[in-house]
Amino acid sequence: MLELKHALWELEKVVDIVQLDNFFQIYLGKKGLLNEEFKVMIDLAPEAKKERGAQLSEIKTKLTEAYEAKQQHFKMGQINEQLEKDLVDISLDATTQHGSYSILAEVRRDAEEICKSMGFVMEYGTEVVTKFENFESVNIPLTHPATEMHDTIYLNDKDPRGENLILRTHTSSMQNYLIKKYGLPLKAVVPGRTYRFENMDASHDTMFYQMEGIVIDKDISVAHFKEMITKLLSALLHKNVETRMRPWYFPFVEPGFEIDVRYEVYNKETGKKELSNWMEILGAGMIHPNVLKEAGVDATQWSGFAFGVGISRLAAVRYGIKDIRYFTNGDLRFAKSFA
Ligand code: DAH
Repeated sequence: MLELKHALWELEKVVDIVQLDNFFQIYLGKKGLLNEEFKVMIDLAPEAKKERGAQLSEIKTKLTEAYEAKQQHFKMGQINEQLEKDLVDISLDATTQHGSYSILAEVRRDAEEICKSMGFVMEYGTEVVTKFENFESVNIPLTHPATEMHDTIYLNDKDPRGENLILRTHTSSMQNYLIKKYGLPLKAVVPGRTYRFENMDASHDTMFYQMEGIVIDKDISVAHFKEMITKLLSALLHKNVETRMRPWYFPFVEPGFEIDVRYEVYNKETGKKELSNWMEILGAGMIHPNVLKEAGVDATQWSGFAFGVGISRLAAVRYGIKDIRYFTNGDLRFAKSFA
């Protein structure tokens, strides 16, 4: 006759999930002992039947409870075992991890930190822009020949004027947005990706990183710009640089300049320090009154300067890299040499 004590003792001896399954078949399964007992009980006299029925029901409840507790115990064991296997040791030394920033990302992050420390607000802006933002807001009429140099990728999506959206060809496209967002006085930078339809060569790529800077205040002059850009470029290039301004045409500035830098280099042959050649590094100028007007600024009250610097160019100068295509072509030998 089936006894609870005996069955519980059997359950006690079960050590794994397979044995537990066996136990279930033997005691609690359809053809198990408990059901057999219920069948036998039917033939008993009414009094005995009642008594045995109550006993069996109790055995069934207690045994099922004990069985389920044990089953739960094994399941938890399995989960813990799995967790143990999947454990990631977050106290591991970070230098044993793989991967590092690409040198472009490193130079961009460095530039962001430097600009923030110089009091610039920073925004990434958007890579998809309107033709208004990219051209007209910075004094390039859509029929202007300068748009030729800025051929880019057109999207099917249209702006509220019904014009196709485009990928920005320069971070100058963020000037209008920044002035409207932050108001004046303004000191802001926009680092980010820009896109152009280019014949790729050592210094041109279809996607490249730029950083736009814009400063607007009362009585801002070229002298302010020259002083600031020399400090900024020295910080960005990690060298004490001398700057030179050459007059240049950009539609969004008047006057416009190209800025060249030179710095001290060590000549291995002579063993002496000498000055490097002048190297063109960025475009800049005093913001054109039309750009200010487009953003609702009174150009008789406010003035400012803007500059656009190629982050890839900065990285190339800083590390002496001759071909900017290395930055993005995924050549592991290149990436690893800076990891
Ligand atoms: N947007 C220009 C370019 O992509 C760079 C530039 C030149 C930006 C002069 C400026 C500037 O803000 O004043 O070629």
